[in-house]
Amino acid sequence: MSQPKKVSVADIISMKSKDKICVLTCYDYSTSLLCDRAGVDILLVGDSAGMVVLGYQNTMPVQMEEMVIFCGAVARGARRAMIVGDMPFGSYQTGPPFAVENAIKLVRAGCDAVKLEGGVEVAATIEAIANAVIPVMGHIGLKPQTASLWEGYRLQGKTSATAERLMADARALERAGAFCIVLEMVASETSELIGKTISVPTIGIGSGPLCDGQVLVLHDILGLYENIRPKFVKRYAELSGTILEAVIRYTSDIKTGKFPDESHTFHMHPEEIAKLKKELQ
Ligand code: KIV
Repeated sequence: MSQPKKVSVADIISMKSKDKICVLTCYDYSTSLLCDRAGVDILLVGDSAGMVVLGYQNTMPVQMEEMVIFCGAVARGARRAMIVGDMPFGSYQTGPPFAVENAIKLVRAGCDAVKLEGGVEVAATIEAIANAVIPVMGHIGLKPQTASLWEGYRLQGKTSATAERLMADARALERAGAFCIVLEMVASETSELIGKTISVPTIGIGSGPLCDGQVLVLHDILGLYENIRPKFVKRYAELSGTILEAVIRYTSDIKTGKFPDESHTFHMHPEEIAKLKKELQ
């Protein structure tokens, strides 16, 4: 099988206002193989893994060590897609040197770039990581890591004052060297303005159709995570029902002795059985 050309930072930047950029979260090897085959441009190893895979209430408890494991698994599955690793809460807030060290850990695990949340306040950190030659994806609007401490889980950029603040954030991230910026739950009009203000692509999640690309959580589009159902998610499958039904059938087969049957069973050679019986007599 020939090796497909890996999606690069230059490819993503050149897609702005031309081709829509498809981003999807991914956390393990098996789904990485599938998402890569399906043609997703960027696999984001989001810290949403903390909620949909590890069962935390929010993304705040996620540790670097956990992200390194998820990033490695996804990187081993993808041949074409760019892999972006999310920097978890606490891995970049204490300043640029610590952030650079942690970004290097994600790159060593197989990531092609890292993502971190924040506007003007993280510009110096983004600049330091970019200066360490590690591509950085920004993330503004709703910032899930700290939303419960500050703005809450609500739509951002609804007023002219907040829209202007978000535009200033986006410009600061671009100046710092971010190669694209996630806009989470930003009013569509504000997203459009941000997109026109900066020269790097915007990737929307709940931010309307006018962004340069879109990202959603894999477990949400597959109907696998039932704890929260955001309005901006489109479901492409209802896998929790399918999985539940399969596991119920499996359980029933075990209980009733229907599984395993002859087709799942291995046998000794008849000569060996005879030999064994003789030896045991
Ligand atoms: O962690 C995550 O999944 C994200 C998204 C942008 C979906 O940051």
